[in-house]
Amino acid sequence: MSSLFHKDKPRYFRSVKPVYNESLPKVYIETYGCQMNSSDSEVVASIMQANGYSITENLNEADIILINTCSIRDNAEVRIWGRLENLHIEKKKRPSLLVGVIGCMAERLKEKLIERDNFVDLVVGPDAYRELPQLVRAAEGGQKGINVLLSREETYAEISPIRLDKNGVSAFVSIMRGCNNMCSYCVVPYTRGAERSRDPHTIVREVEELFANGYREVTLLGQNVNSYGWENKEESVNFAELLEMVARVNPSLRVRYSTSNPKDISDEVLYTMAMYENICNSIHLPVQSGSTRMLELMNRGYSREYYMSRIESIRNILPDCSITTDIIAGFCSETEEDHQQTLSLMEWLKCDYAFMYKYSERPNTKAARHYKDDVPETVKSQRLAEIISLQGKISLASKKKDIGKSFEVLVEGVSKRSTEFLYGRTSQNNVVVFPKENLKIGDYVYVEITGCTSSTLIANVVAE
Ligand code: 5AD
Ligand code: SF4
Repeated sequence: MSSLFHKDKPRYFRSVKPVYNESLPKVYIETYGCQMNSSDSEVVASIMQANGYSITENLNEADIILINTCSIRDNAEVRIWGRLENLHIEKKKRPSLLVGVIGCMAERLKEKLIERDNFVDLVVGPDAYRELPQLVRAAEGGQKGINVLLSREETYAEISPIRLDKNGVSAFVSIMRGCNNMCSYCVVPYTRGAERSRDPHTIVREVEELFANGYREVTLLGQNVNSYGWENKEESVNFAELLEMVARVNPSLRVRYSTSNPKDISDEVLYTMAMYENICNSIHLPVQSGSTRMLELMNRGYSREYYMSRIESIRNILPDCSITTDIIAGFCSETEEDHQQTLSLMEWLKCDYAFMYKYSERPNTKAARHYKDDVPETVKSQRLAEIISLQGKISLASKKKDIGKSFEVLVEGVSKRSTEFLYGRTSQNNVVVFPKENLKIGDYVYVEITGCTSSTLIANVVAE
């Protein structure tokens, strides 16, 4: 197969969207897991496109299928194995089809993925995506390839991702990779390696390019954005400073970020958010448990009281800020009392939305090595159900409080229910559905909230 560019020096496209070329081999990328994985898939698309492959949205015409995988909980991996089984049937029908596993599961399972007869042709971990074209070429020649080396430096800093999003308005921008936190339940430090921050100037350039291409919202991504830190001989940049640099790209560009760790979120970041109207008033601050004993076992680095004090700072400095969180039910040795502490913290916090999970033991983590996964499955399910039910009530009440208020919304797409309606989000990251009128995707509009469900606000347009 021929490469579009000189083999040793791939050039990265300035275009932000896939360039379709019928005559080139086609790559289909399927993404599971977090926003970081979605962002990585866009880097992978860019690397493949710069090396003579065309990106397709149609699986049936693909020559190569790359599955970008997640290992965070056992059920994520079970789902992906199911998908690989389907693709195995597809491979029997089309023997030239190549299937590659990339991302966290590739890193965790390594050659175990290749050992399974004719399921997978290549396995590439999150820090080895520059090697993908070479490994795909080897696989085209019948040689199974694997590269799961983790790096202390790789940030794909200068690669312009090919945007795979549908709306052309909001984009993810990765600002760092890896994680140094070592929460005892979490597989991420093992699958994504040590934390490293990306050159802020390449971040700003990427954001400027997005704005020039019509994007109006960026979400800065990292496992723990508050510990972002980059320096060379002349300058050093922390997260608050980076946030300011990005906010200054254009006042019409919304800036969001995820994920914050409660132990590291600083007042400096909160004051920077207060200073720039285009930095959205929304913070995702995973608490995981309301019990200090559990938080210690989880190695989170904060207590219930410290988490509450960070929330108080957010509410003082950013009174309109929405807060979302993550909660794990049934971690090792969790008692009914610990669980009640989680419920009481939720009542106090009244967060706008929560991602809620049952603890799932991950091989080789500190928890798997040192603690017993001893909360019975039925108890985990019962506690999770109680957490979900409580959050449902809190989310609905928080939506109802918005009825009668006005918000500025960025128009992001056409409502799934009716083409006469559009949807967008408030600064607080709440989804709003409103009549289409003469609005286009990418416009800002003022709306007044007239009603809600537990997940969506309904509104009228008040000013375009
Ligand atoms: N089991 C259950 N939930 C987990 N999370 C991370 N690891 C696990 C695990 N082993 C959750 C945490 C984290 C979110 C991304 O996933 O709540 O914040
Ligand atoms: Fe993302 Fe973690 Fe899943 Fe990897 S394991 S894809 S970092 S959620």
